[in-house]
Amino acid sequence: MTEFAGRIAVVTGGGTGMGRALVRQLLAEGCHVATCDVVEENLQETARIARNEAPQGIRLSTHQCDVASEDEVSRFASEVARDQKTDHINLLFNNAGIGGGGSLVNAERSEWERTFNINWNGVYLCTRNFLPMLLASDEGHIINTSSVNGFRASLGGNIPHTAYSAAKFAVKGFTEALINDFRFNAPHLKATVVMPGGVGTDIARNTSRLVGGGDPATWSDVVVNEMRSQWQKRSTEHLQALNINPALIDMTNDEVRAYMVEREDAYREIGITPDAAADIILNGVRNNHWRILVGKDAEALDRAVRKHPHQTYDLDFNKYVKAEWQD
Ligand SMILES: NC(=O)c1ccc[n+]([C@@H]2O[C@H](COP(=O)([O-])OP(=O)(O)OC[C@H]3O[C@@H](n4cnc5c(N)ncnc54)[C@H](O)[C@@H]3O)[C@@H](O)[C@H]2O)c1
Repeated sequence: MTEFAGRIAVVTGGGTGMGRALVRQLLAEGCHVATCDVVEENLQETARIARNEAPQGIRLSTHQCDVASEDEVSRFASEVARDQKTDHINLLFNNAGIGGGGSLVNAERSEWERTFNINWNGVYLCTRNFLPMLLASDEGHIINTSSVNGFRASLGGNIPHTAYSAAKFAVKGFTEALINDFRFNAPHLKATVVMPGGVGTDIARNTSRLVGGGDPATWSDVVVNEMRSQWQKRSTEHLQALNINPALIDMTNDEVRAYMVEREDAYREIGITPDAAADIILNGVRNNHWRILVGKDAEALDRAVRKHPHQTYDLDFNKYVKAEWQD
């Protein structure tokens, strides 16, 4: 599919970040778009921005849906057929995702499974429920967002990252396996796995609200004190590896709340912008690349892991990544 004008795309997690950027760019190219999110307010903000930019006659429909729930995903697919007046779709961007569930040992089981279910089941359930509409198209493409943590299950340092990495490895394996399945059983369909490095989005903010302890600005004194006692158990080096300022332990509760809000907001400044990421993703789809690395950091990490497989989980692995970055 070398151009998207006149096609119909479904984008999950369109409320912020890369999902919103994909919705905007697809619409601007004349592609009809149906997008979902679990946060209705963000979805409406995407619609407000994107409708102003879309050419006349191009449809945007928005749908509140939790991609981890099959009932909701099934309803979402029916709504897309109704609102887009269609029996088929051409593009499915399984983009919705969330952080969290770091440690199998220490994280709450409910948080761990919520993170895993959104990142893995969300992709599987949307693929399964939209498959009939993809099969009904003349040309279809599924684009599943994994992560660099889909080929290296680590954030570096001593930071556990189990639920997210397990789900992102599953997304990568599933998507790669679909390539062959489609080649023989549905040759008009293609599958692509997207592996972003750092992209400055709202993922930190959304994670704390959707699977973590909620908006840090509203944490009660009991919650702040509990967090402080957790931080006190860790060494200075461990806190630094977690990107937490060790001085936090001695801050007042109000200072802790403000710091944690700032830390979430700072994630928006990392790496490349969501627009640049969406541009890379859409170019990759146009060129029918089965794997799309997003950002120079993702490319350097990919090369480092391939060249040094046995060192991939060493604590000083970053030196190999840096060397690849400089090449
Ligand atoms: N930002 C990065 O650095 C980065 C790196 C690698 C991979 N990713 C992946 O990219 C994808 C997009 O993330 P982003 O960085 O744009 O983050 P984001 O938080 O800005 O966007 C993700 C969207 O998914 C939505 N969402 C979360 N749970 C949902 C659910 N259960 N049902 C429906 N929607 C839900 C959120 O509300 C949000 O609007 C995710 O799969 C993420 O894991 C991001």
